[in-house]
Order: sequence, then structure tokens, then C-alpha cells
Amino acid sequence: MKAAAKVCANIALIKYWGKVSTALNIPAVGSISITLGNLWSETEVEFDESLPSDTLILDGQSRLDQLGRVTECLDLLRVRAGVEASARVVSHNNFPTGAGLASSASGLAALTIAAARALALELSPRSLSIIARQGSGSAARSIFGGFVEMHAGSTPDGSDSFAESLLAADTWPLEVVIAVTERGEKSVSSRAGMEQSALSSPYYSDWVATSTVDLDRGRRAVLGRDFEQLTNVAEHSCLKMHAVAMAAQPPLVYWNATTVACMHVIWDLRHSGVPVFFTIDAGPQLKAVCAPGFSQEVEKALRDVPGVLETLITGLGPGIIG
Ligand code: DP6
Repeated sequence: MKAAAKVCANIALIKYWGKVSTALNIPAVGSISITLGNLWSETEVEFDESLPSDTLILDGQSRLDQLGRVTECLDLLRVRAGVEASARVVSHNNFPTGAGLASSASGLAALTIAAARALALELSPRSLSIIARQGSGSAARSIFGGFVEMHAGSTPDGSDSFAESLLAADTWPLEVVIAVTERGEKSVSSRAGMEQSALSSPYYSDWVATSTVDLDRGRRAVLGRDFEQLTNVAEHSCLKMHAVAMAAQPPLVYWNATTVACMHVIWDLRHSGVPVFFTIDAGPQLKAVCAPGFSQEVEKALRDVPGVLETLITGLGPGIIG
């Protein structure tokens, strides 16, 4: 009862922020993401009757703080398999963990797939997506490659809250440059940040109310491979999410000065004709998305911004890679 899985991270272009159910981790809004080929989590799961409880080693360290969501995901699979044994989980990210680089997305998706394999469960991609969602909303999207849409769904049990493929990675091979501006883990997790936003941001209800329009625009842009339209709606969704978070009480500002400097560099590049836009998650890293063939030029510009510690370049990936 031991297996492993290697799964790519993803970043949302139309953001998920807020839940209708914390118990089932059902998002309040749908989202659209791209799966990143060079950023991945590798997770090994071993079910062992002799273990008193689940254990998690993440990047070489025991992580009790992350164990709750891991156990929730494993429980869903244990029930399906009729197995009660606890599991030993060992996971590794090939990029900084918990710093707004989508580590929970790839991590929880890899956990779901490895555990399903270890329990010899034959599950459809949709079922895997629903189970991964209950570990982390963004993980539901990492089951798929390329461009992915996550449906918020409307049933109270979350059975229609899953991701599915929108467009294959090689159909529109966009490139991504990540500017790492801080290496530590963020002080307020996405989970806590979205809860704080829902409870106290006066803009939260408008965020939810306008999400369908953004999703429609985003989906049309992806399916029509319209980079300009995708630029407009993706930056809007990102900045709107951050505006909601900034207006929470206490406020949530995930950016640092370098993040803002990078935003201006992207706008300057765009004004000079480079097809590029940015997105930023619950952390200070900036992700620049550019049309095929432009990542070297974008990387060069971001590398020179004072405060940028490292840049990572990636294309789109297939989701499950091992
Ligand atoms: C800002 O999926 O990490 O990256 O469901 O609570 O685990 P939980 O949250 P998580 O939130 C991701 C938020 C985001 C936007 C996005 O990926 O859509």
C-alpha cells in the first residue's frame, strides 16, 4: 500500500478567493488557471497498520500545521477503499514552499493521486479533482494540464465543484516567468486570508457577484487564444482580488515594494510592445505570463529589478507527470 505521484503546480488567471463551505472546501467563485510544467511536487504515501496516526514530512521537515488537510483528503480515500490504516506521507517541492507559489495546489493534488494509487482505487479525473479540492481548492485544478477551469458548483455536497480541461498546453504554449521577491513562507495563508476577506472586506460581495463576468471573459479569451483579452481580464481579476484583501480588517497586503516595482516593469514592457501580463497570488511573488517566445526578454527585465532574488521560467505543463 505504497505509491508516489509527481504533479505540476498551477496559477490562476481568474482567481479563486472565498468559500461557500469551509467544511467541504467549496469555492464561492469559479477560477481559470494554467498548469506550470517546471514547478512540481513529488509525494509518496504509504498506508501502514502499525502507525498510530498520519504523519507528514514536507521538504524534510515534519509539518503538523499542514497535517489536518492531508488527513481530510486521506480520509475521503480511506472510506472509498474501506481501509483504516494511517499513512506516512513524504512530499517534496522543487520550488519555495508556502510563499505564494502554489505549493498547496501541486502538493495536495500529488497527495490525492499517490494515495489513490496506494489504495488501488480507480478514480476518474473528475473524482480526483473533487477529492483534491477538499484538501486545497487550487489543487483541484492541478489534476489537469494546460488551461483549466474550476467550477464553483451549486450543490451543497460539492459534487459539482470540480475542475476540467479548457485547452491543451500545446495548443497555446504561453510562457511564465516568476520573480521571487521573498523566500520565507507567507504570514497569512490563502485559507486564512480568504476567510478574513469574506468576514470583513466590504468589497467581498461585489467580488463574488462579478466573478461570472470575469470567468466568461477569461474562458472566451483562452478558447479564442486572444492574448490581449486575457491580459485585460487576468490583471483585473488579480488586482480585484488584492483590493478585496487589502480592504479586509485587519488589512491583508501580500505585496512588498519589489512586487510593485515588478508590476511597473511589466506595464512598461507591454507599452513597448511585449505581449506580457502579470498575476500575483497570496504572496509577494510576481508571475509574468507572456506569449510564446517572449520569456527570455521578460526574464531579463525582471532579473534586473532590485529586490528580485531569483527568476524561474516555465512553460505550461500536463498536470500529472509521474
Ligand atoms: C490566491 O487553494 O491555497 O492562489 O482552498 O484554502 O487551500 P485553500 O486555498 P488555496 O487558495 C488559492 C488562492 C489563490 C488564487 C487561486 O489559486 O485561484
